[in-house]
Amino acid sequence: MTITARPLHPLFAGEVTGVDLRTRHDAESMDRVRALMDEYAVLVFREQPFADEEQIAFARRLGGDLVTKVGRAVIDHASRLKHEALTDISNLDENDEIMSRDDRRRMYSLGNRLWHTDSSFQDPSARYSMLSAKSVPDAGGETEYADMRAAYDALPDAVKAQIADLRAFHSIIYSRETIGFTAFSDAERAQFPGAEKPLVHVHPGSGRTSVYVASHASHVVGWPVPDGRILLRELMTLATLPQFVYRHAWRVNDFVIWDNRCTMHRGLAFDETTQRRDLRRVTTLDTEPALTASAT
Ligand SMILES: [Fe+2]
Repeated sequence: MTITARPLHPLFAGEVTGVDLRTRHDAESMDRVRALMDEYAVLVFREQPFADEEQIAFARRLGGDLVTKVGRAVIDHASRLKHEALTDISNLDENDEIMSRDDRRRMYSLGNRLWHTDSSFQDPSARYSMLSAKSVPDAGGETEYADMRAAYDALPDAVKAQIADLRAFHSIIYSRETIGFTAFSDAERAQFPGAEKPLVHVHPGSGRTSVYVASHASHVVGWPVPDGRILLRELMTLATLPQFVYRHAWRVNDFVIWDNRCTMHRGLAFDETTQRRDLRRVTTLDTEPALTASAT
C-alpha cells in the first residue's frame, strides 16, 4: 500500500496513517517516506510503539549514519538510555525519576525551548531527527516547528540578495550562554568547537531555498558581531511568525520525523516538577550538505 500523508498545516507538516514503521523494511517504502519528507519537512506518525533498538534500526534504514556525539550525552555522564545514538529528551534522571529543578542536565536541556535546528553547531550537522513519545504531560510540552523554506520565500528580494552568500557561526556554548547556562567545563567546551554554516542553502530533495539559522548562530562571519546578531534575530523572528509554525501536541507512541535542513523547532513549557515528559530522539547525519544558494 502506498504511503500517503494529509496536510496538518497550510505550508508544511503532514500526518501519515496506516503504516507500522517497525515492520516496513522495503526500499520502496523508505524512498516514499523520504519523498514525503522532502515535500512536508515534518511527518507525524501515530501509534508507533518503538522499542529503542527498533527506533535506531528504522533511523538507519531511512537515513544511514547516525549522530552519536550529541549535546546532552556530553554533559550527562549517567544517562538512563544505554545507546549512544539515542538522545534523552526528557525531564528524567538515571533512576527514571523527575529531575530536581537545579539539576544541571535539566538547566542545560532548557535550551531546547529556544528555536533551533539540531546539530547546526557540528560538522556534519543533522538531517532527519526522529522523536518517539513514551510519556507526555497532561498539559503543555508541545513541540513547535517553523517552515524555513516558506520563511525564505517571504523575504523581500533585497534581503534575499543581502544574505545569499553569508555564513553564520553556530555554537551550542553560545546558545546556552544566552539563557545564562555557562557552567561548561574546559573538556566540554573542547567537544563543542562550533561550526560555520551557510545562512541560506538549497534543500536538495525539493530544490527549494531555505534559511538556515538557529539560536546556536552567534554571529555572521566577516561582519561586526552586533550587525550579525541583529540580522540573525530578524531572520528568526520572521521565520517563527505564527503563519510559518506548526504546533505538535504529543500523544504516547507518536513518532515525528523532521528535516533539520529546512525547519527549526522548540519545545514548549510544561510542569516539570510533577509531570513526566519522555521523548527519545535518533538523528541522522547530513553527510551530503545542501548546496549553497549562490551555487545554483
Ligand atoms: Fe532539538
